[in-house]
Amino acid sequence: MKRHFLSIADYSRKELEEIFELTAELKTKTKKGEKHHLCAGKSMAMIFAKPSARTRISFETGMYQLGGYALYLSPNDIGIGKREAVKDIARVISRYNDIIMARLFDHAHILELAEYSSVPVINGLTDYNHPCQIIADIFTVLEHRGNLNNLKITYIGDGNNVANSWINLAARLPMHLVICSPSGYEPDEKTLAFAREQNVSTVEVLGDPIAAVKDADIVYTDVWASMGQEEEAAERRKVFQRYQVNEELMRHARSDAKVMHCLPAHRGDEITDGVIDGPRSIVFDEAENRMHVQKAIIVKLLG
Ligand code: CP
Ligand code: NVA
Repeated sequence: MKRHFLSIADYSRKELEEIFELTAELKTKTKKGEKHHLCAGKSMAMIFAKPSARTRISFETGMYQLGGYALYLSPNDIGIGKREAVKDIARVISRYNDIIMARLFDHAHILELAEYSSVPVINGLTDYNHPCQIIADIFTVLEHRGNLNNLKITYIGDGNNVANSWINLAARLPMHLVICSPSGYEPDEKTLAFAREQNVSTVEVLGDPIAAVKDADIVYTDVWASMGQEEEAAERRKVFQRYQVNEELMRHARSDAKVMHCLPAHRGDEITDGVIDGPRSIVFDEAENRMHVQKAIIVKLLG
């Protein structure tokens, strides 16, 4: 394992499969109520520059289940990159804690945090990517399907941090990934080029949602305006109308297709109540799995 967990692209297929194996083991132990204090005496600093429910709760609870301790540092506490330089925070926290999890705006800041930290850093979302989410997502797909063979994943919506992490995953695990976004809202060009160079998966970018969901095993969506884009929300709502995941669109996917969303969802915008609450939805399994995969990542990083 490498020292940090900043992007899925930093991990090999074998390393990802090892994370899935450990996740399954830790999930079983958790369900059976078997003690697994693999991080006894260890502490994790959790820096949040943006709000969170799942990331905070799953990391904090997961660290507790591992016998360790997690400190929540809110957007008002540290002022990373504003009140204090990123590299100074990295060096200070490294003196107190065994591992850092950070949710930041600027991806360059998480890279800098990792560069100057002497302890492992986990990326809990930046404007560029959200690797823990997509590891939890693909683990959830694996649980539901039993394997990841001949998988077609269609992501409908904004070419954002979540979409970029899907593309990074496709650079490592073979799949047919379709990203379907309105013109001007496509995912990061460099990330797409990188994934295509790896020649592991087929990665397509399409504009038409109906064509995109055809034969899809998984239809995935996320908010149209991410954290930090609140001022663009009204404009985006107009641009993205055609990209709503609703019952009508789902009629064009496979009859056994599952629906996923990283949450929080804006019900009635990118996804309808009928779909998110319906029988195809596996969104709460994926939310639960955030905790199990992150525990595996923490254990791997702390050795
Ligand atoms: N999916 C996710 O990361 O949720 P939070 O923003 O609530 O942490
Ligand atoms: N794209 C969303 C994901 C939230 C988990 C955001 O960045 O707000």
